[in-house]
Amino acid sequence: MQAIVFDKLGLPTEVLELRDVKKPVPARGQVLVKMLNAPINQGDFLFIQNLYPEPKKPSLPGQIAGNYGTGIVIEKGPGASLAEGTLVSIIYYNTWAEYAAIAEEWLIPLPSGFPPEKAAQMMPLITAWDVVEGSKAKRGDWIAVTAANSANALFIMQLAAHKGLRVIALVRKLPSLNLHEFGAEVVIDLSLDGDDVSSRIREITAGKGISAILDAVGGPLLADLIHTASFGAKVIMYGGLSEQRFQLHNNDIYLNGLTIEPYIYRHFFTPPVPEERSTIQKIIDIAGAPSFIAPISGRYKLDEYKTAVRNSFSSTPGSSSGKGLFIID
Ligand SMILES: NC(=O)c1ccc[n+]([C@@H]2O[C@H](COP(=O)([O-])OP(=O)(O)OC[C@H]3O[C@@H](n4cnc5c(N)ncnc54)[C@H](OP(=O)(O)O)[C@@H]3O)[C@@H](O)[C@H]2O)c1
Repeated sequence: MQAIVFDKLGLPTEVLELRDVKKPVPARGQVLVKMLNAPINQGDFLFIQNLYPEPKKPSLPGQIAGNYGTGIVIEKGPGASLAEGTLVSIIYYNTWAEYAAIAEEWLIPLPSGFPPEKAAQMMPLITAWDVVEGSKAKRGDWIAVTAANSANALFIMQLAAHKGLRVIALVRKLPSLNLHEFGAEVVIDLSLDGDDVSSRIREITAGKGISAILDAVGGPLLADLIHTASFGAKVIMYGGLSEQRFQLHNNDIYLNGLTIEPYIYRHFFTPPVPEERSTIQKIIDIAGAPSFIAPISGRYKLDEYKTAVRNSFSSTPGSSSGKGLFIID
């Protein structure tokens, strides 16, 4: 079968290679999944550079890239119970390939009619759900969402708007997407308003300040946003796209009752447990509705991987317009 593989750590634009590898055979408790598609997430790039914490580490040489995707179960290994023909979302390893053999406990089974391109995005959907719920923001509260045109933030904003939160979307440059369609009430273009973001937010919130900051950027922007937070606000830090650091004084945090909380996807380290199924079902129901938008910026065959990876890895400010996706079958 064909797979996108890397033998050494490095930049995804430099170390990946498409080659023929042995089709996997499902071991005990595993199923063989025929891949339909696989998204290109920023997390895939962290994995290739070995930036994820243990145990999410590549096994070299010959690690198949890609950690997310959608497929159909086509064969059961001994002891596996998922029925052949089941549509599954994969959040594991080895997805930029034609087939993957995966322990079934790691798979999220989906209704057969669930749109496969949304199924590919279950990880950012669950992440978005967790950070919105974790923010503890209540109906009518203002929240700030950074890197607002990233696929993840597009989901965060839709889920937040669904809960009646008032979203201030921050982008480093206005994208072609209309972020108001994704739930943003106000969009701040930092290429225009970057120096004055704090006073803009004070004005927008009529001095009330923001109750939560859902941040994937960091750097001086995060410090500016923290200066506009209301007492008791929460910062959820789930990405670090800026190479810059931020600087705060202790008083900025403790005198403002601020909580800064990290978020790492809940199933990176342990598979979903049955008690989580009802939450996952709620997310499937909301995301499966036609009104919930999961835009795709580009669809690529596996042999177009160089273009696919380049387009998602080093974007020009304002150029993101949805998720890049390998269409495998
Ligand atoms: N903690 C977790 O479990 C978890 C889960 C999912 C995602 N994430 C994080 O969420 C973030 C978005 O991921 P994604 O896959 O959804 O992204 P994506 O759709 O591939 O889009 C990338 C986004 O990053 C923005 N960006 C890139 N470099 C930037 C910089 N230096 N400053 C500000 N913005 C920058 C781009 O904006 P332009 O259009 O302006 O280029 C674009 O909006 C990443 O940090 C990812 O690691 C974390």
